[in-house]
Formats: sequence, structure tokens, C-alpha cells
Amino acid sequence: MRKTPIDANLELGRTGLGCMSMTGGYAPATRDDRESIQVVHRALDLGVALFDTADIYGPFSNEQLLGRALRGRRDRAVIATKCGLVPGPDGALSRDGRPEHIRAACEGSLRRLGVDVIDLYQLHRVDPAVPLEETWGAMADLVAEGKVRALGISHATVPELALVHSLFPLAAVQYELSILAPQLRADVLPWCQANGVAFVAFAPIGRGYLTGGVDGVGVGDSRSSDPRFTADALAANRPIVEGVRSVAERVGATPAQVAIAWVLAQGDRVVPIPGTRTLRRLEENVAALDVRLGPEDLRELDALPVPTGRMQWDRWRSTDNFGRRVGAR
Ligand SMILES: NC(=O)c1ccc[n+]([C@@H]2O[C@H](COP(=O)([O-])OP(=O)(O)OC[C@H]3O[C@@H](n4cnc5c(N)ncnc54)[C@H](OP(=O)(O)O)[C@@H]3O)[C@@H](O)[C@H]2O)c1
Repeated sequence: MRKTPIDANLELGRTGLGCMSMTGGYAPATRDDRESIQVVHRALDLGVALFDTADIYGPFSNEQLLGRALRGRRDRAVIATKCGLVPGPDGALSRDGRPEHIRAACEGSLRRLGVDVIDLYQLHRVDPAVPLEETWGAMADLVAEGKVRALGISHATVPELALVHSLFPLAAVQYELSILAPQLRADVLPWCQANGVAFVAFAPIGRGYLTGGVDGVGVGDSRSSDPRFTADALAANRPIVEGVRSVAERVGATPAQVAIAWVLAQGDRVVPIPGTRTLRRLEENVAALDVRLGPEDLRELDALPVPTGRMQWDRWRSTDNFGRRVGAR
């Protein structure tokens, strides 16, 4: 598999595996740790290196599961986890970017993952109550202490990216990027490309929607709070699903593969991390590396309607691209 270097010592493959849904989130009732561990092992065998988790997934149980799966195989994996979010008593998430929290969170992640060092440590959300320099400084200290190899950030605006990159080199930016969420091509992706920073693209298959297999979401499914998963938005975005299906039929691939191939086509340093809990879908998704979309296919996909429903990441940004505070939750 072709490698995407993101720092002198750390390499991502062209595609990674998102582990979030292995411990719930989407259809939590179907959690199956045995199959999830097999998925991680098979991914390694297929040449996938990057495994993405977060302390908040589960919460906490996702890192434990990934740690269990990678026991004895750790050297073959690039472990990416995240800090900066904490669960409240009601299950709602809040941000905590205080240096003391970042240090404690890192110790917790190392323990749950059962490793000495985290390969890519990502700030999950910027905390508007704490100067970003302080949060990032604490993360840089973790690199100096050998507990972390490289730093990343999720849901940061361009000025925030420029700030942290000037303080300590940013190895990767993580954001949603897909045919259902193409907006980041306007600002964050060009910034990453201009600065030689990898773009880790989460939800590349639109949280499952682009496969055509999501007609509604039930209680306990985290997508129920996503404005793109209301009944109206699901119906309004149907032409996008049809467009993906039409290209898939023409190129002899599945809709999920076309969705992933579109993300891969956005640049050499764009690394999609599709999530799945099943071996069959893992193999299908990794095989997207062999799907070639021609200029006409890409033109057709780019001409699909603008998705209805406000993006999740939009609600989580703390400043806009001019540095102004915006709707921090
Ligand atoms: N930084 C952030 O704030 C953030 C936010 C969200 C996610 N993420 C990361 O991004 C990763 C991926 O995102 P995601 O899981 O939200 O969305 P995704 O990868 O776009 O979609 C995952 C959903 O699609 C289904 N699926 C996967 N492959 C399929 C296939 N070939 N055919 C049909 N359905 C398929 C999965 O179901 P099954 O599991 O049943 O296969 C799951 O419901 C997460 O695991 C997480 O690591 C990061």
C-alpha cells in the first residue's frame, strides 16, 4: 500500500480504520467485540496502519477495545486517539482544554490502550475557555516527554490551524470530508495542502448514508442529533445517494467504494478513515483503493446537489475563519 508520510517517524497508509462505532454510537445494540477485534486484525493484514479512536468513544471503552485488539501487534499500527472532550453526567459532551486535563487524559489513554506512546494525539475540540496556546503547549510537552509522537487537531478553523502549527508542527488535521460534507475543500483542505499537513477525513461514507442503506435512525443512535439525519433531510439528500449509485454502477464498484474513492481523489495527503464493525465491509472499503474515478466521474459527483442539513462540525467550531467566536456548545 502507498504510504503518506506525516512526520519523520510516522507514516499513515492511504486509508485507515475508524473504530468509533465498534463501541456504540450507531445502533449500539449490535456491539460485537469479537468481530470488531477480527476487523482490526484483518485491517492490519490488508495493510491498514492507521486506527482512529478517542477517549470519549464509549466513553473510554473504545480505547480499551482497540488496545486489546492490538496486543502483540502494536508495532504494525499507527494509533491515533483524541483528548479535550469530557462526558457530563447526562451523557452530553463538554470541552476541556486545560493543560492539567490534557496531561491526565493522556495518561488515561496510554493506560487503556496498553501502550507506552501514542502515535498521533489529536485535540478533539478547541476549548474556547482556555487559550489554545496553553492547550497546545501541554500537548507539545507530551511529545517532549516521549508519551506522544505527533500532534493533530480536529474541528479547528484556519487561524487556529495556523496558530498551533507555528507553535509546534501539526502532523494531521481531522475533519469530516465526503460527498455529503464537501465544504472543507474551500478552506481547511487547501491550508493543509499548502502546509504539508495530512488531512484525516472522517465519515467518508457520510456516516453510512452514501451507501443508500440509511433510511432513518433510531433512539440511541448518535446520528439522531445530526441535522442531515432528520426525515426531511434524509429524503432531500436522496438525489446525492442516487448520483453515487449511478457512478458506482458505471465504474463497477459499490457506493461505499465510490464515496471513499472520491475522498482519496481529493489529494495524496487526504486519508479517509471509514468506520465499520464487519469483516465484509472492511474488505469492501479497503478495496476502494483500487477504484479509479476518471475526470468525468469526479465531475458528476462534484455536480451533485449541495447537501441539506447543517454539518456536525459546524456546530463544534469555536471561532470562524476570521477568528471571531461562533456558537460554541
Ligand atoms: N474527529 C471527530 O470529531 C470525529 C467524528 C466522527 C467520527 N470520527 C472518526 O471517523 C471514523 C469514521 O466515521 P463514521 O464511522 O462516523 O462514518 P463513516 O465511516 O462515514 O460511516 C460509518 C457507517 O457506515 C457503515 N458502513 C461502513 N462501511 C460500509 C459499507 N461498505 N457498506 C454499507 N455500510 C457501511 C457503518 O456500519 P457498520 O459499522 O455496521 O459497518 C457505519 O454505520 C469514526 O470511526 C471515528 O474514528 C471522528
